[in-house]
Amino acid sequence: MVHVTVFDTKPYDREYLQNSGPEFSWQFNEFRLNSKTASTVQKGTVICAFVNDCLDGECLRTLKTREVQLVALRCAGFNQVDLKEAAKLDLKVVRVPAYSPHAIAEHSLALLLTLNRKIHRAYNRVREHNFSLDGLVGFDLFKKRVGVVGTGKIGKIAVQIFRGFGAEVHAYDPFPDNEWAAQHQVTYTSLDPLLEQSNVISLYLPLTTDTFHLFGSDHFKKMKPGAFLVNTSRGKLIDTKALIHALKSGKLGGVALDVYEEEEGVFFEDLSNEMLEDDDLSRLLTFPNVLITAHQAFLTAEALSGISNSTTENIRRFLKQESFLPGTELTTNE
Ligand code: NAI
Repeated sequence: MVHVTVFDTKPYDREYLQNSGPEFSWQFNEFRLNSKTASTVQKGTVICAFVNDCLDGECLRTLKTREVQLVALRCAGFNQVDLKEAAKLDLKVVRVPAYSPHAIAEHSLALLLTLNRKIHRAYNRVREHNFSLDGLVGFDLFKKRVGVVGTGKIGKIAVQIFRGFGAEVHAYDPFPDNEWAAQHQVTYTSLDPLLEQSNVISLYLPLTTDTFHLFGSDHFKKMKPGAFLVNTSRGKLIDTKALIHALKSGKLGGVALDVYEEEEGVFFEDLSNEMLEDDDLSRLLTFPNVLITAHQAFLTAEALSGISNSTTENIRRFLKQESFLPGTELTTNE
């Protein structure tokens, strides 16, 4: 039996992992993994971590002293892991590159439609028997210009959904897939015209040193007045202070976020009885044209089951010294 220590767990994680087979003994920790909590790991276990765990050099070195050999990330993004240090320590790191790209793509559309058609406000009004429509005017997506930044697994599905609405899609990706673009009537362009001409811009790119704060004041200045921005990728792609400035100036029509640059310790938690210490997040929540969900784009039954299956299959393969599922092992070349 293999002992797996799982960090930052919630009831929905446990439900899917627990049913994955008798060969696993699970220890579910609600707290996150970082350099301080790594020492709590029982010797020789497999570690299962999530998006807001912090696997920096110090954390990885402590895991090594606990004879950990495998770190299984139950997420796609891996910006939270020092892969160079992991390679030096000969710690294997695997992730779940795709569980349900539909879950994330669909959530980005759900956010956009809710914000644009003001469903969140209408819902509250109607529950209070306020049936007036003042202030609820939105716009058709049909024939609007949508700029998609990043056309990997999630971006491609989002594009196809936007095309279903009859939107005109322009995309930017340093590695364009021209064959797919021709099939779906998508036009690849460079980033500047996409910023200047899009009514809606939606982000589906990874966080790297190159994309950190990619959306800052320069980009907001270039965007069309009244444009909507949707981010379901990573919070740090956007410079929050510059975003607040752009919102205060009235430049942006709407902003829908499932991720936030300082989400760690806030998102996934019930803080309803506490004071919110993050002034930028508090400010964002005051804008009527900002809609935020707390990193829930992945939260569908299909995605949770995909995450659990891929994670447990990789652990099984590791124990049998077989190669990992294709595309799941992370090396410093990623
Ligand atoms: P992917 O690796 O299939 O695609 C990413 C695409 O972005 C690639 O085509 C790549 O060439 C492109 N790209 C890289 N740098 C770029 C740049 N500077 N500008 C424009 N495009 C660039 O990744 P996938 O599966 O589509 O996921 C995208 C991101 O979504 C992940 O990196 C992750 O951060 C985020 N995500 C968010 C979730 C949530 O629950 N909110 C869940 C899963 C993923």
